Amino acid sequence: MKLVADRIILALLSCVMLAFGATSSFAQGDTYKDAFYWNKQLNPGINLDNALVMRDGKLRAIEENHLALIASAGFKSVRIPVVWSTYTGSNAPYTIKPAFFERVDKIVNEALANNLIPIINIHHYTAVMKDPAGQEKRFLRMWEQISQHYANYSPKLMFEILNEPSQNLNGEVWNSMLNKAIRVVRKTNPERILFVGPGYYNSYTKLSAIELPRGDHNLIMSLHYYDPMNFTHQGAAWMGDISESWLGTTWRATEYQRNRVIGHFDIVAEWAENNDVPIHIGEFGAYDKADMTSRVKWTRFIREQAEKRGWSWAYWEFCYGYGIYDRHTDEWRTDLLDALLH
Ligand code: GLC
Repeated sequence: MKLVADRIILALLSCVMLAFGATSSFAQGDTYKDAFYWNKQLNPGINLDNALVMRDGKLRAIEENHLALIASAGFKSVRIPVVWSTYTGSNAPYTIKPAFFERVDKIVNEALANNLIPIINIHHYTAVMKDPAGQEKRFLRMWEQISQHYANYSPKLMFEILNEPSQNLNGEVWNSMLNKAIRVVRKTNPERILFVGPGYYNSYTKLSAIELPRGDHNLIMSLHYYDPMNFTHQGAAWMGDISESWLGTTWRATEYQRNRVIGHFDIVAEWAENNDVPIHIGEFGAYDKADMTSRVKWTRFIREQAEKRGWSWAYWEFCYGYGIYDRHTDEWRTDLLDALLH
């Protein structure tokens, strides 16, 4: 009831602001739209695990035609992981290198030009996970600069505060930092859609610990779903030696396997209902060491279960280890693509 009342008050306030000619970060002609509206515009979505993420000390390349390809396949949104921390000074005022902004701009602009909704985040910021207190000022300064830089961009550009908070960044520590970051962004981008996520790598198990600011209806909850890990991460070197012992794990959509996913998603649906926040599965995917039949079955099932509940999603990812596109032969992996689109 309280949430409904909040929503009505906010809508009235927006009308009053419009009547008095208040400006907003929305382009002219756009009217106020909340997160539920935007969440419906995101499917189907895909992650770029390239371009702005470091691997082996260098940025991966994105080919000129990738965003056009993604759009022509029918995708509507693209989550762009960005390693800002590598290009941000280590001491105050923690300046982000202008050349890196240019690089991000280019990809964001290209996504927009291809009619894709770009979601940019802070990705692989490992230092803040290890030492939240020591990195807080730097983290908030990153958001101050990013949000100033993009304040006048289309409302279609969306921000995600941080990929996969984990290690020491959890519970109260994460809640406090998340809320501070939202306040920083809201100074320059009062209505832009922001994705927020729970601790333990955006896990649904930490949803109940999250505290969001009241009255902000432009927030979307982003969860990552890779269950069962021994299936989706088999042979994934970054998981350590154990992932070798997972090789050969299949996913055949047995009743037990399906009910497990449904059980998890029902917990999320209940949280979403109680908190009146739309849900985005910001990452889900199975690594290419798993057999293709299982990957296709799992991918389709997760996608269908998300859509059934009115959630948006972004598959992890376009053309690397989980890829639906083979960048060496320049061909779609059509069975995976079908599992997402048809
Ligand atoms: C996270 C990591 C990414 C990894 C993916 C699957 O997004 O940042 O590097 O590939 O999860 O494990």
